[in-house]
Amino acid sequence: MIYLDSAATTMQKPPSVSRACVSAMRTMASPGRGGHRPAMLAARTAFACREEAAALFGVNEPENVVFTFNATHGLNIAIKSLVKRGDTVLISGYEHNAVTRPLHALGAVVKVAYGPLFQPEAMFRSFEEQLTPEVCAVVCNHVSNVFGYILPVERIAALCRARGVPFILDASQSAGCLPVDMSQLKAAFIAMPGHKGLYGPQGTGLLLCGTDTQPLLEGGTGSMSARQEMPDFLPDRLEAGTHNIPGIAGLLEGIRYVRREGPLKILERERRLMQTAAKGLSALPEITVYADPQGSAQAGVLSFQVGEMDCELVGEALGKCGIAVRAGLHCSPLAHRSAGTYEKGTVRSSFSSFNSRLEAERLVWEIGHLNRKNSR
Ligand code: ALA
Repeated sequence: MIYLDSAATTMQKPPSVSRACVSAMRTMASPGRGGHRPAMLAARTAFACREEAAALFGVNEPENVVFTFNATHGLNIAIKSLVKRGDTVLISGYEHNAVTRPLHALGAVVKVAYGPLFQPEAMFRSFEEQLTPEVCAVVCNHVSNVFGYILPVERIAALCRARGVPFILDASQSAGCLPVDMSQLKAAFIAMPGHKGLYGPQGTGLLLCGTDTQPLLEGGTGSMSARQEMPDFLPDRLEAGTHNIPGIAGLLEGIRYVRREGPLKILERERRLMQTAAKGLSALPEITVYADPQGSAQAGVLSFQVGEMDCELVGEALGKCGIAVRAGLHCSPLAHRSAGTYEKGTVRSSFSSFNSRLEAERLVWEIGHLNRKNSR
């Protein structure tokens, strides 16, 4: 299997990740639930994971790194901590349903900063125009999960700071391959999955907190047990119920891997593979490739269409020849509307640190073959 669906979940992980998960299942209990050895081991592992994440993402206090089930969970906490029914929120035109659905459910008034693909200057100008006094929060994707488009979030965060508006960053596709620094962005929240660019297991995520929070779940925390209110301190305030300790142990190893390699080195590797695929696909007849001509505004994610072929059928055909991609709307109808691909969707290939040039070339070869078969 050639796995090119890392924007959904990285499947090839550093071997230390699964080893740590298995070892945690055998030796660890729950943090904060006892002074016995298995509980203490779990507590030390969870704290080590917070410390590694804090060091990678410029968070001053490891306690402000909160464990979540995924990025969607973190985004829900972030949005529901800041936004009430009827509030006005500004988002980019490349947001995922993990942002737009909670806002819809809350009954927020949503303003959208639109801009063409791979034009960060136009996107920034649009945020500048739309960030009017009634906006109470801004939510922005760092990297589009559909197109790999890198949005100018440092400038958008600075704009929010200058105008005193809380900023929520969705770092789902950037954590692990781009600099994400809480101390520089001074975001209210940064949400990310553990199972994509941090190479942790599914069911893990992190929420970096820079402001007051509202719990999404209430329940046991192992602290302040005599009280019926949730603790007012992090991370306990947001971590009700038993932790996913095997997942957290695996995530710790994933983050250690990213810190050893360095996010920018990982980005360069993934980008080279994406560009190999983009160049090869662009040379084929009737293929539409969504690639940044300059190169600097795109990470290791590449969307394309094969003539008039249904994207889902292309995805299925690639699956049959052993290549895993994702096709359709990728839970991001807004991003497809912004890019003009909503009607047809796209086929998306996405690369990780563990893919090779040969795999990118094989994708191109299979698409060429499919295209020829289809035009006969
Ligand atoms: N948001 C993930 C994706 O893009 C699941 O596939």
